[in-house]
Amino acid sequence: MARETWATRAGFILAAVGSAVGLGNIWRFPFITGQYGGSSFLITYLAFVALIGFPAILVEFVIGRRTDRNPVGALRELGSGVWSSAGWLFVVTGFIILSYYSVVAGWFLRYTLIGITEGFTVADPAAADALYESVSTGLDTLLFHAMFMLLVVGIIAAGVRRGIELSVKVMVPAILVLLVGLAAYGFTLDGASAAYAYYLSPDFATIAANWTEILPAAAGQAFFTLSLGMGVMITYASYLGEDRNLAADAGIIAALDTLVAVLVGFVVFPVLFSIGIEPGAGGPRTIFVSLTAAFAGIPGGRILGVVFFGMVGIAALSSAISILEVLVSYLIDEVGVARVPASAALGAAVFLLGVPVTIDSIFLGLYDGLADGILLVLGSLLLALFVGWVIPDVGREELRKGIADGAGLDAVWIWAVRVPILIVVVVVLYLGVVDYVGFLTG
Ligand code: PHE
Ligand code: NA
Repeated sequence: MARETWATRAGFILAAVGSAVGLGNIWRFPFITGQYGGSSFLITYLAFVALIGFPAILVEFVIGRRTDRNPVGALRELGSGVWSSAGWLFVVTGFIILSYYSVVAGWFLRYTLIGITEGFTVADPAAADALYESVSTGLDTLLFHAMFMLLVVGIIAAGVRRGIELSVKVMVPAILVLLVGLAAYGFTLDGASAAYAYYLSPDFATIAANWTEILPAAAGQAFFTLSLGMGVMITYASYLGEDRNLAADAGIIAALDTLVAVLVGFVVFPVLFSIGIEPGAGGPRTIFVSLTAAFAGIPGGRILGVVFFGMVGIAALSSAISILEVLVSYLIDEVGVARVPASAALGAAVFLLGVPVTIDSIFLGLYDGLADGILLVLGSLLLALFVGWVIPDVGREELRKGIADGAGLDAVWIWAVRVPILIVVVVVLYLGVVDYVGFLTG
């Protein structure tokens, strides 16, 4: 049987954008940006997306389209056994990310439901804080985690075209429309101008003073938000035809993902400044505590809140399916398991790994710090090393396909991947390991 391919060009782009746009943009981006000083983080992050993230998407695209394989099989086909063990790293990373991703997505489902049944009645930040505490751990949290994983397994069991492509075609445009509306609302708030100053006026002295922390945080966020470093983009490109312009597609994906994250900042920071919450203080609870308080205090806030939280749940779903698809495609291609049992078994394993996160939030920091600060960076480093130094000619040839006039793009790209990007990523990985060890010991 021929391998499945995407039904349409828009289908592939929407699926990749659906993978990129998720909790990384909406839940993680605003609190990490707050933690690292607003505009200083924003500008570093934007630089990473453009100079490292975009070329790194292409690294994954060329591998996937060349081989039509899952990441492990792809690396074995193009390289040697050593490289296919790098593929194993992706499987491990996918397990860890999806396990806590699903728990956090469950929180969003829960807040959506709270909005529908009770509305957002807690106007003061302390009460909002208590609500967050009750949502983020406990037996109910476990149930919502299970519910979310069931949705993910259901979509992936249905297969690439019917499952991923159709669902994303509806989700992504809806998310963009809703965010623009919420950002316009943010503009009308009292705290808007202070928020814009905090978020947008770049402060290079702060970056210079804190670069050993800002750099790895921005890099980790860039890789995470673009779904890079664990083979998602390899897997999605493996379902792609030969005639596509990979660079153009990668540009659209990076631009849309960045647009969503930046827009989220335009929603969250005006709200935070208007109700007097310090943007760097909240960590993972930031968006919940601040927005429930805000939704409680404004007319129409209940509907706005339900729409917002529901929308994030949907965005998380289109990302989560891309992670499970990496694991499932591995079992299908390499072990010969059928799609439905593979989806169910892996979904159950991911669910179990997420259970500790529903019991104590310390595990959220442990999982996220490991996956984001280290594993995704390491994965991207290995892929850049592989394409840049093991199969540079294959990479260039693959990149040129579907581009009428290559204009030397492939030469610039492969040079960047071989030297400057590799150096930066090594430095970032080192800094990230130091930070994580500091987190574990302090
Ligand atoms: N990019 C997704 C987000 O921003 C998360 C993700 C990471 C998805 C890694 C797949 C792989 O939410
Ligand atoms: Na993202």
